[in-house]
Amino acid sequence: MIQNFDYYTPTRVIFGKGVVDQLPEVMKPLGKRVLLTYGGGSIKRNGLYDKVLDLLKGYEITELPGIEPNPKYNPSVLDGVRLCKENNIDVILSVGGGSVLDCSKAIAAGAKYDGDPWDLITYKVKAQAALPIVDIMTLAATGSEYDAGGVISRTETNDKIPYIDPLLYPVCSFLDPTYTFTVNAKHTAAGVADAFNHVLEQYFCSDHNMVADGFCETLLRTLIHFAPIAIAHPDDYQARAEIMYACMYGCNGILALGNSPSGWPMHAIEHALSAYYDITHGEGLAIITPRWMRHILSERTMERFVSLGTHLYGIDPNLPDAEIAEMTIDRTYKFFESIGLPMHLQQVGIDNSRLREMAQHVKEDVQQSGPQYVTLTVDDVEGILADSL
Ligand code: NZQ
Ligand code: ZN
Repeated sequence: MIQNFDYYTPTRVIFGKGVVDQLPEVMKPLGKRVLLTYGGGSIKRNGLYDKVLDLLKGYEITELPGIEPNPKYNPSVLDGVRLCKENNIDVILSVGGGSVLDCSKAIAAGAKYDGDPWDLITYKVKAQAALPIVDIMTLAATGSEYDAGGVISRTETNDKIPYIDPLLYPVCSFLDPTYTFTVNAKHTAAGVADAFNHVLEQYFCSDHNMVADGFCETLLRTLIHFAPIAIAHPDDYQARAEIMYACMYGCNGILALGNSPSGWPMHAIEHALSAYYDITHGEGLAIITPRWMRHILSERTMERFVSLGTHLYGIDPNLPDAEIAEMTIDRTYKFFESIGLPMHLQQVGIDNSRLREMAQHVKEDVQQSGPQYVTLTVDDVEGILADSL
């Protein structure tokens, strides 16, 4: 049955070649004092940094460089909050991938809070306000540009926590696919795997509907078609643009309207992998996805596998359901493998020494994230991790 929903995404998205030229017009009403956040230097190498500074002549710009993948609470979030307070920042401009934007979202809330920003990230305290955020997205993957969440890592406690609050929607996201031409094959593939998994997290649920299913299947088809093209020809505009457009819808809820909650189990598992081993999010998801699928396959879940297999992969619907389901898992595995993703934990430096500990951690996170499509015990998670080695 289709469930009731209430949907609102306030983010303005400006998409296409050359759109960054509109930055001054978007920034003007938001204030003069800007915190410019970015990562390890890709935006300096591809010319975007110089372009932004040129467009924002006359603004007072404070910089927070060096935000790492799997952005860290300490130092990046804490440094950003301090810079906002010291410089009385009006608006944050995030230029980079999902990590830079996620970190900027936590900073935006922390800047308007007197206590320890970790209180907000862990929902001990509900944020009352946040600085406005504008972003220029340079990597197609997370969908952070069109959602209200960010994921923050705290190394000393092996935590990687999704922090979601409607206050964190960017005011405006600029998506110019030409700035993704410089993303290497590894991160292009990882971004595609991330977006692919966002769709599956929402496809596998009890109550679903044809509109949502169709939307999901279209996005998957787009990613499967264009990922190899973008990897072989990094400056193919159409491929980069289609991927960027598809990724944008990953996490803002539009793919799951009318559906029952799924609990996002693969993300919970992957976040533990990234928290313990600092691996690339999309690579961890590529490894976990087929193992999770195989683990949850049952009479009850069979229909989802058959739907995906026949609609997406064109598998003959006359075959026995169990065979279609196996083929669906296999095709998903082979797609990830075909775009160069590692398919075993050992390939990303993870051995069997901490599987139980991570599974325990996942269980605690999952318990807080609401109803699950298939409830996973600690043993289940450990089993999925062991199968992924
Ligand atoms: O740091 P720089 O030098 O910019 O290099 C980055 C980084 O090394 C590089 N890169 C980015 N744009 C580039 C580029 N290199 C060349 N040319 C460009 N145009 O790519 C590397 C990875 O960047 P990162 O921002 O970490 O990747 P991504 O966008 O995949 O973000 C991953 C983070 O987002 C979280 C993940 O858990 C992970 O921490 N997620 C956020 C979500 C959200 N907010 O909704 C949902 C996702 O499920 C995900 O969990
Ligand atoms: Zn993800």
